[in-house]
Amino acid sequence: MSASASSSPSSTPTLTNPPTLPLRNGMQHPVIGFGTYKVGFIPASASAAVAGTQDHVERTAQECVQDALQVGYRFLECAEFYGNEEQVGKAIAASGIPRNELFLCSKVWTTTIEQGPVAISAQLDKTLSDLGTDYIDLYLIHWPVPGKHVEAYKTLETLQEQGKIKGIGVSNYAWEDYLELKEAGVSQLPCVNQIEINPFLYRKNTIQKFQDDGVVLQSYRSLRDGKAFDHPTLKEIASAKNKTPAQILGRWCVQKGFVYVPKSVKKERMEENAQVFDFELSGDDMDRLDSLTSPEAIETFVGLYRKCVNRDTSKDGTLEGVKMNITED
Ligand SMILES: NC(=O)c1ccc[n+]([C@@H]2O[C@H](COP(=O)([O-])OP(=O)(O)OC[C@H]3O[C@@H](n4cnc5c(N)ncnc54)[C@H](OP(=O)(O)O)[C@@H]3O)[C@@H](O)[C@H]2O)c1
Repeated sequence: MSASASSSPSSTPTLTNPPTLPLRNGMQHPVIGFGTYKVGFIPASASAAVAGTQDHVERTAQECVQDALQVGYRFLECAEFYGNEEQVGKAIAASGIPRNELFLCSKVWTTTIEQGPVAISAQLDKTLSDLGTDYIDLYLIHWPVPGKHVEAYKTLETLQEQGKIKGIGVSNYAWEDYLELKEAGVSQLPCVNQIEINPFLYRKNTIQKFQDDGVVLQSYRSLRDGKAFDHPTLKEIASAKNKTPAQILGRWCVQKGFVYVPKSVKKERMEENAQVFDFELSGDDMDRLDSLTSPEAIETFVGLYRKCVNRDTSKDGTLEGVKMNITED
């Protein structure tokens, strides 16, 4: 486990009692959670990317999240965009788990960010109502919408004063987006930045800058969306450790000190993915995994960033306002 993570000294880390990472506002963030993207529902603007994989929607989000809670996940990673928060709320209600044992994170989508403060406030109320709670542990700006994200961030600060949000964070922020927030003089800097991090997209420079500035990194696509399990290095390390490739990717993530939010709609995989606290990767294994990011992967990342900051806004498909010189690696 990373030096900065902690767990109750008297107990082995488990899903219901995982290690935590301290956030700049004094909160403790569980290092493992359950990702709910494409759980029970595929958003319209994401459907083209998953054509032919409709098995994702065979089970409802309520069923999947009930399984995740039964398996022991207590941190649920949600979003307006995922279109399933009402179902997630039903699963929470059915579980009977007290609110203070859960850690709930959600994100406001680009369309709402573009609409401005009134829409953002209304969306947060909807998310709270859908999830069946009167506060969210973390609320994030999903993408740094050009010309709009700073105002949206300030709106979250106001909503936090009303007690609806415990911690504020961002997602998909380049270092330069974060600097924009800083220069705008926000009253508190983000607790977290949620970005893709895995050995196949390990942007060391960006990660270092955020960590040095006190921002905890939530890794998304920690499992590389299930598309890299056949990589020979990963298979070799997994076989030597008698673990699965998914468990190696999960262990790499928590051992680096990133928050890990694997997603699966299958209960056995939810169990498998969570078993990352009973072994360690050696320095050599970590180095080998650290070296798997190719220049092409960085290029793809930059393309996605440019496309997605305006996605589902009136500027969709254009580069209007998009930062063309971000820290890429
Ligand atoms: N902020 C953002 O913009 C953003 C973007 C993407 C994701 N996220 C968040 O991060 C979470 C995780 O990312 P992700 O869902 O994109 O990708 P991921 O967790 O890296 O991978 C999910 C994929 O891997 C498969 N999988 C999971 N465990 C497996 C296992 N043990 N063996 C084989 N296949 C396995 C899943 O299939 P099955 O479901 O069929 O098992 C699914 O297709 C999301 O759910 C979401 O909460 C945030």
